[in-house]
Amino acid sequence: MTDGNRPDGPPDEPAELLELAIRLARQAGALALRRREHGLSVATKSSATDVVTDADRAVEELLRAELAEHRPADAVLGEEGGAAGPADSRVRWLVDPIDGTVNFLLGLPQYAVSIAAQIDGVTVAGCVHNPVSGELFSASRGGGAYLAGRQLTGPRLVPLAEAVLATGFGYDQQLRARQAQLAARVLARVGNLRRLGSAALDLCFLAAGRLDLYYEGPLGEWDYAAGLLIVQESGAATSGLAGRPAGGQMVAAAHPELAGEFFALLEELGADDLSA
Ligand code: 2AM
Ligand code: CA
Repeated sequence: MTDGNRPDGPPDEPAELLELAIRLARQAGALALRRREHGLSVATKSSATDVVTDADRAVEELLRAELAEHRPADAVLGEEGGAAGPADSRVRWLVDPIDGTVNFLLGLPQYAVSIAAQIDGVTVAGCVHNPVSGELFSASRGGGAYLAGRQLTGPRLVPLAEAVLATGFGYDQQLRARQAQLAARVLARVGNLRRLGSAALDLCFLAAGRLDLYYEGPLGEWDYAAGLLIVQESGAATSGLAGRPAGGQMVAAAHPELAGEFFALLEELGADDLSA
């Protein structure tokens, strides 16, 4: 029994938490696909472009119900339903039922269910599943990152001027204008830019070597928790603003030998202004 175990519940081992995360992500992904086939109703949240569908809510409810059944003592933070469960719980789940909601709504095949589990505030298991492609990315802390049984080895080492960068833009118009200014400055110094629309999948794509660089901020913890562990476990270096660890203000990632130059470039070009 580890320190994290409760006498009356399942063990708090990263491998157990990851196994459950993977099972729930597949279940949730299947529900998202089914709900999409039957037509979506849409509401807005913080702005006219910040949308949520009835499917986002139904998928999160499924995840919360399953977690309550299998892990009743754990806390949960979800994008749509907020925080629930005991504040003193050592295990906390971070769930985004659909990361890339705008893509989901439009029928663009780039969205994912994202599930992470933390023990004492440290992410130990993460799973990101795109139900359209069927791809499932996963990682446990210290155990490597995987896609379909293949271990992921992280982003390429290429000169910054040749590296393909991914980033994203938020739902608030003024924030988006600042993000676009930074992206324009960064774009002039890197190889090219992709804006795919799901932070969780962007991080997994770096882990899989499909993208070279990533930064985005601000993000919700549910957007990046699983993807951040996956990209770290693939061997990438990650950072936040001003040398702080990656977090809600900023998540940046690159090959370790490119990271110093890339993170310094973000500082030089004014990434700090995003959180102003
Ligand atoms: P979502 O699809 O779950 O809303 C797009 O750049 C990425 O950033 C998506 O992963 C999107 O998540 C997320 N995102 C955009 N604006 C956000 C905000 N204001 N708060 C949290 N996440 C945001
Ligand atoms: Ca979401």
